[in-house]
Amino acid sequence: MNSKQVVLITGSSTGFGRLFTETLARKGHTVFATMRDPGGRNAKNASEIRTLAEKHSLPIYVLEMDVTDDTSVELAVDNAIAKAGRIDVAINNAGYYLSGLEEAVTTEQAQRLMDTNFLGPVRVNRAVLPHMRRQRSGVLIHVSSGAGRVVLPSVGFYCASKFALEALAESYNYELAGQGIECVIVQPGAYETPVFGNTVVAADQARTDTYGAAKDFPAKVNGALSSRAGNAQEVADAVLRIIETPAGEKQLRYRVSAQNFGVDEINDISQQVQAKVLEGFGLTADTKFRKGKAAGSA
Ligand SMILES: NC(=O)c1ccc[n+]([C@@H]2O[C@H](COP(=O)([O-])OP(=O)(O)OC[C@H]3O[C@@H](n4cnc5c(N)ncnc54)[C@H](OP(=O)(O)O)[C@@H]3O)[C@@H](O)[C@H]2O)c1
Repeated sequence: MNSKQVVLITGSSTGFGRLFTETLARKGHTVFATMRDPGGRNAKNASEIRTLAEKHSLPIYVLEMDVTDDTSVELAVDNAIAKAGRIDVAINNAGYYLSGLEEAVTTEQAQRLMDTNFLGPVRVNRAVLPHMRRQRSGVLIHVSSGAGRVVLPSVGFYCASKFALEALAESYNYELAGQGIECVIVQPGAYETPVFGNTVVAADQARTDTYGAAKDFPAKVNGALSSRAGNAQEVADAVLRIIETPAGEKQLRYRVSAQNFGVDEINDISQQVQAKVLEGFGLTADTKFRKGKAAGSA
């Protein structure tokens, strides 16, 4: 793989995605910064990114992608391949936070959340993997969260979406390692981005009203999260280090956070348990990373 890589990022309009775009492009990586509706509601964000690219001669291309729409995902991936000929890294970043007592979250709200935070990466991975397989190399990055490992009351659906993402990414990791394709999970703590302003609130107020003191969980949790939010550039710097780590040397999970509530410990124990599970099923050798061979080579 070239040291300068072709990177496709979802949810690049704001927050982490926007920072990843700029941080990676400034190091010479070609970035396809995808976002919803760059000609409409994200026109200002798209134009700021294009202006930055022009001003500093950065290899950034803005593309439209709604991760809840199969056709939109496939079109963006096709456009990136037509332009660059390859995608070395796909960063599944698009996602949002849903806050509220679980009983007050409607099934429609829950479906929409899973459609973005979980099925979004399913669509993106399915679209990019045939190209990575052809290249015999590639990296799938999944922006999870500490909430993909620990649970807070009033964050249950968001946690569920990130737990689901973690399971999917870990399984992809085992299945793809033999083909030279790596899977990585990034678990940020709380960081200053527009995420809290974009929070969706559980819609069924009548259910919430029956809860007594637990009604205050969302305010307590969200207040604590935003008060300890760190500088989001830390996460962008971590992602840069990850994609510049040689193939076969990346970790499955990277926790990026100033606070440690034990997520690292869960990751360590999980790694030990998973190693035993794979061994018990006779899968250890088959799930080890092997550099992909170019088509036709011995
Ligand atoms: N900030 C934190 O403390 C924190 C901590 C852990 C994990 N995370 C995760 O980090 C990721 C990025 O969040 P952020 O903090 O950077 O917040 P953000 O600024 O709100 O960014 C979220 C991005 O996702 C995009 N998005 C939402 N639905 C989409 C869809 N259907 N298709 C395409 N893009 C969509 C948004 O685009 P629009 O502009 O079109 O809405 C936006 O670009 C999320 O997965 C979040 O769960 C954040």
